[in-house]
Order: sequence, then structure tokens, then C-alpha cells
Amino acid sequence: MKGAVFTNFQEMIEDEFGMECWEKLLEKCDLPSGGIYTSAATYDDQEILSLVGALSEYSSVPVPTLVEAFGRYLYNGLASSLPASMMDYPDLWSLLDSVDSVIHVEVNKLYPDALTPKIIVTEKHQNGITLYYQSPRKMCLLAVGLVHKAAESFGTPVTIKHTCCMNDGADHCSMLVELEQV
Ligand code: HEM
Repeated sequence: MKGAVFTNFQEMIEDEFGMECWEKLLEKCDLPSGGIYTSAATYDDQEILSLVGALSEYSSVPVPTLVEAFGRYLYNGLASSLPASMMDYPDLWSLLDSVDSVIHVEVNKLYPDALTPKIIVTEKHQNGITLYYQSPRKMCLLAVGLVHKAAESFGTPVTIKHTCCMNDGADHCSMLVELEQV
């Protein structure tokens, strides 16, 4: 996993739980990197899983809730790492249409060792879209958090329902993303 994900994770912990919490997690996890992350480097996926597991024990918040919350936090960090012109979309739907074909393509040019998921809009509905997610990491809840935050940044909050999920044994996830009813 790219270092940018880890540096954002560290920032979220320090902002929301305090420096002391980050130090406790590092003590607990005994990570090969020593917990010193730089955004362009790549670290073992297991390190983020260990850190999230340790944070869950520390905070008594379940892992899935933490992963989704981290996705929300991560969105601004990732979005601001690209030139503003690359994030200039008129609405959430056109942004989601471009994640796989433009945004992650750019990420893979910048970091040839990046492993971005397959994430595509497969259907358009009157009130939303169906999003297809596939990745050996099965981090669909991170995608859920990212999409919620992106939706909020356009002032159009959404509901997201998994209709099938890799974590239940499916070969991909399908998510119904719809404008929140007011
Ligand atoms: C709503 C928009 C987005 C969604 C749904 C999305 C989805 C994801 C997900 C789920 C992952 C975790 C890896 C996996 O599942 O295999 C990921 C990784 C990543 N994404 Fe995105 N993403 C979005 C926007 C962005 C933006 C704006 C950037 C800008 C730089 C970005 C850069 C990255 C990077 C650097 C990684 C790490 C890849 C690696 O560790 O090898 N993403 N994305």
C-alpha cells in the first residue's frame, strides 16, 4: 500500500485520538517499517491491517467502522495531492465515472508500483448509480468512506448499499449509490 495512505492514517489518528494513541499503536504493532512513513514509498498491506486492528482494540470501535471512517478522512488528503484541474468535476457521478479511467490512471503513472482497485460505474439510475469494486485487498469499506466524503464535497450526500460483497465470498462488490432522500 502506498505511503500516502499511511501518512493520512497517522494524521487521522493524531487529529482524532492524539499523539499518544499513535505511539501506543506503534508499540503494540512492532511494524517492519518502524512506523516511519513517506508518501512515495510502498509498505506491506499487513501494516495498515495491524494498525487498524490495534486502533480497534484501543478505541473499542469495530474494524469496519474504522475503515469507513478512515475512507472519509483519506478523501481530502488524496484529492488535494492532485492538481486542482484534475479534480474539477461538475458532480459526484462524473467524478465516480473518472476514478478508474482518469484518477487512478494518473496515480499509476506517478507511482508505477501502485495497486489501485477496479472501480467502475456499471449502471446509471434516475437517482444514482451502481458501482463495481474489485481488488485482492477487499477494501470496499474504504471505497464507501471515500464516496461518502466525495458526495459531501459536492453538497449531495448519498446512501450506499452493498448488493453483493467480496467479504462475503463474491468475486466483486456491487454498491448501489443513491442521493439521500431529504
Ligand atoms: C471517490 C473517489 C475514489 C474512490 C472510490 C477510490 C477508491 C480507492 C480504494 C478502495 C483504494 C484502496 C485500495 C484497494 O481497494 O485495492 C484506493 C487506493 C488508492 N487511491 Fe483511490 N479512490 C478515489 C479517489 C482517489 C483520488 C482522488 C486519488 C488521488 C491521488 C486516489 C489515489 C489513490 C492511491 C494513491 C491509492 C493507493 C494505491 C496503493 O496503495 O497502491 N484515489 N482508492
